[in-house]
Amino acid sequence: MDRRLFLASTLCAGLLPDTAWAAKTDTPLKKLAADKGVRYGTSTGTHALFGDPGYAAIVAQQAGMLVSEYQGKRAQLQPAPDRYDFAALDSIVAYAQRHGMAMRGHTLCWYSTNPPWLDAQMKSDLALPAKQKLLTDFVSTVAGRYRGRIAEWDVVNEPIEPGDGWPLGMRTRNNIWAVLTERYIDMAFHTARAADPSAALFLNEYGIEAATPWNERKRHALLLLLGRLKQRGVPIDGLGIQAHLRPYKDKFDQQVFATFLKQVTDMGLRISITEMDFSDRGGSNDPQQRDIDMAAAATAFLDVALDNPATRTVMSWGVTDRYSWLTSRFASDPWPKGGVARALPYDVNLKPKPLRTAIAQAFIDAAPRPRWRRGAA
Ligand code: XIL
Repeated sequence: MDRRLFLASTLCAGLLPDTAWAAKTDTPLKKLAADKGVRYGTSTGTHALFGDPGYAAIVAQQAGMLVSEYQGKRAQLQPAPDRYDFAALDSIVAYAQRHGMAMRGHTLCWYSTNPPWLDAQMKSDLALPAKQKLLTDFVSTVAGRYRGRIAEWDVVNEPIEPGDGWPLGMRTRNNIWAVLTERYIDMAFHTARAADPSAALFLNEYGIEAATPWNERKRHALLLLLGRLKQRGVPIDGLGIQAHLRPYKDKFDQQVFATFLKQVTDMGLRISITEMDFSDRGGSNDPQQRDIDMAAAATAFLDVALDNPATRTVMSWGVTDRYSWLTSRFASDPWPKGGVARALPYDVNLKPKPLRTAIAQAFIDAAPRPRWRRGAA
């Protein structure tokens, strides 16, 4: 265990005083990351970006990369078979360009958040080639439109679900699998590569970070899938690790996670942390303590993630607790005292939290790395 891993485990055990989390640097997170050859950024949406100046100021200051939280999903982009609506995503991409930020694209192929017409057509008696075209036309239209402007595409999102019962752990209970089986992944990647040869292409997954039996099953299935994709020559550049972490619920083990990252990068793949947030559900009722616990969890997680030189991107899923999907996501199980999720680096008043300090320190402690060729946009 190196010095940083040791430090992280010490912090997890709560052995350091609260003052360890006082902000040590105002340097923007994007700068701390870029100094090490890493990109830091956040997901965003037009409502907040163009309607909340305080929020937009933090984004402009801290983020070197943006990803659209929902306006790049197919239900938004293609409301009808013959109608695309790029207005919202265009405005985010243009904003990123104006501010010298890179873009991640999210997502070209996902079993969820598709327009109802697509599911209907996938279930219809259309011929197989026509159904394949429903996938490839979308991928080539969207990746082609933003060609040269998206550094990293989430080509396929969340393809693993051992709970679906398929022997190899693939997510099978959806229309795209029902029609195309695993070939849909190959087709999406090949089509994306042809449409935008400069973008780095990612498979993005969640539930693969923690030391739980369920995460272990997902990691196992995912490694098998990545091996098959490499063997078939599918043009995949990296694994996106969503990192929706739940520190009070799921045990995190640095060695387990480090081993997994090594297995992935030994295949020649790079790593992006794509949707990082820290759910403070459960645990202490004291918000300040929760903030410290989430920061300690971030230190433990990021120190391992950044120890691997193939980790080039770290994205938070939002930058302030003012806008976190977690607050509204589980309405049946609200945060204590009707509060909000405290999952992100800035609080609802846009003040930096211990979590921000932890992220900053992880970048400061990271070893520098050179840039990758593909995905420079
Ligand atoms: C979530 C968004 O945050 C929500 O605003 C939206 O309503 C649903 O999707 N994994 C993903 C993201 O890949 O696209 C999800 O984003 C969060 C989980």
